Amino acid sequence: MAKSTILSVNDLTVTLDRGDRDVDLIRGVGFEVRAGEIVTLVGESGSGKSVTSRTIMGLMQLDRNISATGSIIFDGQQLVGHPEATAKLRGTELAMVFQEPLSSLDPVFPIEDQMREGLRRAHGRSSKQAEKAKMEELLREVGIRDTDRVLNSFPHQLSGGMCQRVMIASALSSAPRLLIADEPTTALDVTIQAQILDLIDRLREENDMSVLLVTHDMGVAADLADRVVVMYAGRVVEDSSPRDIFTAAQHPYTEGLLGCIPPMTGQRLEILPAIPGSVPDPAKLPGGCAFNPRCAFASDRCRTDDPPLLKLGGTHAACWHPRHAEDQTALLEGARA
Ligand SMILES: Nc1ncnc2c1ncn2[C@@H]1O[C@H](COP(=O)(O)OP(=O)(O)O)[C@@H](O)[C@H]1O
Ligand SMILES: [Mg+2]
Repeated sequence: MAKSTILSVNDLTVTLDRGDRDVDLIRGVGFEVRAGEIVTLVGESGSGKSVTSRTIMGLMQLDRNISATGSIIFDGQQLVGHPEATAKLRGTELAMVFQEPLSSLDPVFPIEDQMREGLRRAHGRSSKQAEKAKMEELLREVGIRDTDRVLNSFPHQLSGGMCQRVMIASALSSAPRLLIADEPTTALDVTIQAQILDLIDRLREENDMSVLLVTHDMGVAADLADRVVVMYAGRVVEDSSPRDIFTAAQHPYTEGLLGCIPPMTGQRLEILPAIPGSVPDPAKLPGGCAFNPRCAFASDRCRTDDPPLLKLGGTHAACWHPRHAEDQTALLEGARA
């Protein structure tokens, strides 16, 4: 039986009112996350991954200058235009961990107080003893053994990796259906990164939770994921399985990101081949395909027409010149349809 869809994002556009003009930070983003799946959102810095995930959580829209259109259906419920419903889900069925664990923790309270707050938001009050037992259980679940020391510590007394484990434990305290992890390991060193990613993957399985993992690292994205959603300049440019990403990436941008995967030498000393240039400012997008100024395959059409996301075999890609030519017929048929 097909797994049920837990999150369905369609044609999501997030607009910033700058006073003088409106700027779209993300433009018609769409993807799905099914129950128990891990979907990765991947792209360079500035491509719109955090805006997308913070909009799903209802956090972007807390800014009066920011509005969202399109739809975000979570477990059958429309979240766009429903801030109260979203606020109820936040910290209960929908949980998020951020890139900088230290900045998400309050420096002046010990971990115990902060975790208790999360527990109470999810489950209401119970006895201090029962709450402590639950916190210890959650910390053990994320691989922390000296639970007493950690609960009594202030955030600055813990390492970055330990803080991120605490954040993940807190996020799990409400048994969320969907965990959004926005670059949860970017601030950590390499060995700890792998441990945290393994942890998220194990927790997903044990808790039958879905995960939307945001990363700029294609290696991480394609390694863990059931689906990989590639973003560029506020759009989805490819939506694919990890296998297709590695063997038949369609979009030249996806190919470029694959070139950025560190070689598995155990060292990170090599200078990685990067895509020349950088992600454009949402207020200054080039005409046509936003990637065209950086693309080795760009034609006149790419400079005038923005390609829609089209089906290419099992993959969707927004490119007039997909890299696997055998599928071009499908593209042309899609364009005609
Ligand atoms: N609150 C905001 N106000 C104005 N611009 C923003 C805001 N948040 C993000 N942006 C802009 O939106 C674009 C996408 O940002 P972001 O989603 O953070 O990228 P990513 O997470 O992929 O690195 C960037 O150009 C960023 O400067
Ligand atoms: Mg980000």
